[in-house]
Amino acid sequence: MAAFPDFIGGRVAVKVGDITREDVDALVNAANGSLMGGGGVDGAIHRAGGPAILDECKAIRSSRYPKGLPTGEAVLTTAGRMTARHVIHTVGPVYGSVDAEAKLAKCYRNCLAVAVDHGLATIAFPAISTGVYGYPREEAAIVSSRAIQVHLDESPRIEQVRLVFFAAEDAAAFLRHHVFS
Ligand code: APR
Repeated sequence: MAAFPDFIGGRVAVKVGDITREDVDALVNAANGSLMGGGGVDGAIHRAGGPAILDECKAIRSSRYPKGLPTGEAVLTTAGRMTARHVIHTVGPVYGSVDAEAKLAKCYRNCLAVAVDHGLATIAFPAISTGVYGYPREEAAIVSSRAIQVHLDESPRIEQVRLVFFAAEDAAAFLRHHVFS
């Protein structure tokens, strides 16, 4: 696999691959508000993790979010059969929706906050909203890298953030447009 540069003193790594195979404390799911699964990375995570994930999503829906998980919010479940210990589900904005940029930044901020709240040190993100939700990957790269940098600059608790891209050209686009200092 091509070696990519790392950022922020090695605390951010860029990778190409299937996020369901990452050995991290938590991997992030680009879910929809129903938390009942879907296509893309959502489908891959539920397939790889198995029904325990959906069981916990149903419990979250019935207890805390009966109307669904709002865009930008994040919740933690088991990762089921996957190597990762947890899944953090977040709902990205559909590109062109109201305040989409702010809501995408909120996804990253809230996923990192949920990880810190649970004492987790390593987290892997897919490129939230850049698939079905249509967010251009070049614009998403600016939003995600800025939000991650702000968090890591403020808190030492997260030891590593892995940005896992499904396709090499997605990683290349990120590396051309990120704003990590
Ligand atoms: N590992 C890493 N990245 C992946 C994987 C995977 N196994 N599968 C897909 N991706 C990438 C896509 O290539 C895209 O770059 O994740 C990024 C996000 O794409 P989507 O999964 O389509 O997520 P999103 O754009 O946020 O749309 C969410 O799609 O699957 C439904 O239920 C989901 O309704 C929700 C919507």
